[in-house]
Amino acid sequence: MAFGWIEEQDRARREAGLVRVLRPRPASSSLLDLASNDYLGLARHPEVVEGAASAARTWGGGATGSRLVTGTTALHAELESELAGFCGFEAALVFSSGYAANLAAVTALAPHGSLVVSDAGNHASLIDGCRLARGTTQVVGHADPDAVRKALATHDGPAVAVSDTVFSVDGDAAPLAALADACRAYGAGLIVDDAHGLGVLGDGGRGAPQGAGLAGRDDVVATVTLSKSLGAQGGAVLGPARVVAHLVNAARTFIFDTGLAPAAAGAALAALRLLVREPERAARARAVAAELHERLTTAGLDAVRPDAAVVSVRAPSAEEAVRWAADCRAAGLSVGCFRPPSVPDGISRLRLTARGDLSREQIERAVRVIGETRP
Ligand SMILES: Cc1ncc(COP(=O)(O)O)c(C=O)c1O
Repeated sequence: MAFGWIEEQDRARREAGLVRVLRPRPASSSLLDLASNDYLGLARHPEVVEGAASAARTWGGGATGSRLVTGTTALHAELESELAGFCGFEAALVFSSGYAANLAAVTALAPHGSLVVSDAGNHASLIDGCRLARGTTQVVGHADPDAVRKALATHDGPAVAVSDTVFSVDGDAAPLAALADACRAYGAGLIVDDAHGLGVLGDGGRGAPQGAGLAGRDDVVATVTLSKSLGAQGGAVLGPARVVAHLVNAARTFIFDTGLAPAAAGAALAALRLLVREPERAARARAVAAELHERLTTAGLDAVRPDAAVVSVRAPSAEEAVRWAADCRAAGLSVGCFRPPSVPDGISRLRLTARGDLSREQIERAVRVIGETRP
């Protein structure tokens, strides 16, 4: 029977307690939300919603084609210029998602004969970029610049190291300065995925590369998503103008993909302008993360110290993590639940988003619910 193997895989997944199911999401909910990636609470900000609506009114419901075919709008150009300027890079190119931006950066910058050195804790989209790239990938230990050096030392030819800036599972930060030093020593490029850094790290949320003094360097490329701190949708690659020009010609997820939807571009631009006006939002998200971590630890929970706004709490098993998240939900708190294969070390976790707009009372309530429902 066609696709007969699906049932076999499904059975194995059920036995391991790893089945994923889609849950309906109402337009408004009384749940306290610590599951989304809306770090700055901007997704429903009136200026962001109006940015989306007015862009759709002006430019339509979709981009109508690849920007190389139907042309590039003033809106996309404005977003790219302001985003690059904000993060401290020479140029930017937006994509329909952060996932597509990561595929673009890795595949276009790792040609045949090149080496890609990839952190073992990298996001799935970087991993998939490595899988699609023509170069050869070497996976190295998590947050280990010496391992990157050793890998680069073995290779003769173009090379690039790729790493998340903030790892999505535990919320720990990559040793960016040491990675950049390692790359520079061997003439390699560095690609960093700042999905969880933009809006949270760096001066006023300018991102982890800016915070580490790497933004604008000729050997550093950053990718971002517009779907987390900016509360919109889409992604971007930031870097030297010559790299961005190369992506327009070489990145298949730019060339063969419909351009970023105008509404998403308009929302992201409005959010970016808000962040420029209100830079304290970034520090507030970091402060909420620190407070959440401290209260969880005081309550005896195994929470990882956050470097940005992701707070991770370890669970005894995948089944108990799922039950724990469901019990939190029943008590009015929405939290993320990470299980294999999304966690490289096999340890399941509750994953909390330290939204900058959470009040002290909401933080206390979240910690109380997590503590009361613990397995
Ligand atoms: C580290 C990281 N990179 C990339 C992405 C993909 O971004 P997007 O959702 O915009 O495709 C995500 C999350 O979704 C992420 O956590």
